[in-house]
Amino acid sequence: MKIVIIGGTGLIGSNVTNKLRQLGHTVIAGSPSTGINALTGEGLSDALENADVVVDLSNSPSFEDGPAIQFFQTVGRNILSAERNAGVKHHVILSIVGTHLMEGMGYMRAKKIQEDLVKSSGLPYTIVRSTLFFWKF
Ligand SMILES: NC(=O)c1ccc[n+]([C@@H]2O[C@H](COP(=O)([O-])OP(=O)(O)OC[C@H]3O[C@@H](n4cnc5c(N)ncnc54)[C@H](OP(=O)(O)O)[C@@H]3O)[C@@H](O)[C@H]2O)c1
Repeated sequence: MKIVIIGGTGLIGSNVTNKLRQLGHTVIAGSPSTGINALTGEGLSDALENADVVVDLSNSPSFEDGPAIQFFQTVGRNILSAERNAGVKHHVILSIVGTHLMEGMGYMRAKKIQEDLVKSSGLPYTIVRSTLFFWKF
């Protein structure tokens, strides 16, 4: 399978990339440092060509309310739109347990927005929810 990991160089993304490669999948680890920027759209459509699955493990460089919301909203829209154009079969995101209970925190609101975009995308999807095990300030 061809799998594109957006945020594939990050803490979780690099581990997922390694594990999927060990299982024999063709994996593209996408991030601005590898020429795939989901915020600007740079490199996105080329990376998604013939992809079966996209796993969005990107993260906002800022945890401030406004920038985090802006990041997940824009990145979510850009990736889902590129997936529709490319005919990607499945979309996966990693969210956080209890986002709907903590909407007072901008970052949690941003993750809830990301979930809602995926749910309303019309694409087959999986939302995995983890507790926060690593949080950098
Ligand atoms: N860590 C946790 O405890 C935890 C728990 C639950 C859910 N999550 C979710 O899991 C996801 C990944 O978290 P993480 O801790 O692995 O994050 P991380 O280590 O900060 O990694 C973020 C990744 O996103 C990439 N990225 C940043 N801006 C991008 C852009 N414009 N376009 C494409 N990629 C971009 C980074 O690329 P560069 O390296 O090039 O900057 C990096 O590969 C997040 O959505 C987070 O909400 C995390």
